[in-house]
Amino acid sequence: MIRTTTVDQERQLLLDELLDGLRRPQKMLPSKYFYDEIGSALFEDICALTEYYPTRTEIGIMENNIRDIARHLGSRCLLIEYGSGASVKIRLLLDHLRNIAGYVPIDISAEHLLAAVDELRQEYPTLPIFPVPADYTQDFDLPEIEVAFHRRVVYFPGSTIGNFTPDQARDFLRHVAEVAGEDGGLLIGADLKKDVSILEAAYNDTAGVTADFNLNMLVRLNREFDADFDLDAFRHRAVYNPREGRIEMHLISRREQIVSLAGEQFGFHANESILTEYSYKYTLEEFAALAAPGFRVEKVWVDAKRWFSVQYLTVRQQAMQDSHSW
Ligand code: AVI
Repeated sequence: MIRTTTVDQERQLLLDELLDGLRRPQKMLPSKYFYDEIGSALFEDICALTEYYPTRTEIGIMENNIRDIARHLGSRCLLIEYGSGASVKIRLLLDHLRNIAGYVPIDISAEHLLAAVDELRQEYPTLPIFPVPADYTQDFDLPEIEVAFHRRVVYFPGSTIGNFTPDQARDFLRHVAEVAGEDGGLLIGADLKKDVSILEAAYNDTAGVTADFNLNMLVRLNREFDADFDLDAFRHRAVYNPREGRIEMHLISRREQIVSLAGEQFGFHANESILTEYSYKYTLEEFAALAAPGFRVEKVWVDAKRWFSVQYLTVRQQAMQDSHSW
């Protein structure tokens, strides 16, 4: 696919999305806007927090079950990672997969992607790596893969699937099934439902790192779109919505105020919020149903407390017959 949007057009599209979100009765900002340089570094810090259990729990599950995971993925698989980082998790897989055919990391930041690939090429000199700088939530083309492989396996760790609404997640999983293709698989991390106090603590850490991560959205708006958010006039709050089964992250206005962005003014009442993120939590049954149009659950690995799951799903034959363009 030929990319036809220019940097200016992309900026305009983002601005339209931001303005559209702030004009709604429940003001919203898109969670993808968290991840500039500072936001990405803050997210790394979140992953190391005591209260934020998902990262260490997922790594623990991977470490405890890596041989079984490798056995399910089989020999000579082409591993395609969505939203790749330079993480511990991918190294665990690369170290244990039998005769891996190649690794295709996909990431929106070309700079980070190529830096991570440079490191991996030094650590795994014989591994064929095919980096794809792309937004995996949009249409993208896989490069020509000039190595023989048995199956494509998409790797999507971190429970990032939880940041999609269930409708978006279903569409996304259908698209992943198309990319994985016949006989393909998906290795995915999915966070599970648990006690509300544990969930809310994970998103309201005492050190205030998640608050800084959330408020960084406003810092970005001030810097990149000449907005005039007063950072002291907003506070972070994450709440679990049991009916929807999701954490909702908000920036709450401490007082009545007017903020301007790109020449437009937005009024806030005291305690009015901007919704910045959903993080859905699933039961194993709910997750299997969500994935069912495209995938069958082959194997689920969980930790002793059943807080997090790593799952291996295989593409349903029927999904291939019904496949439509993403
Ligand atoms: C990236 N994602 C899976 C994180 C989550 O837990 O939903 C983002 C995050 N937001 C606040 N803390 C972490």
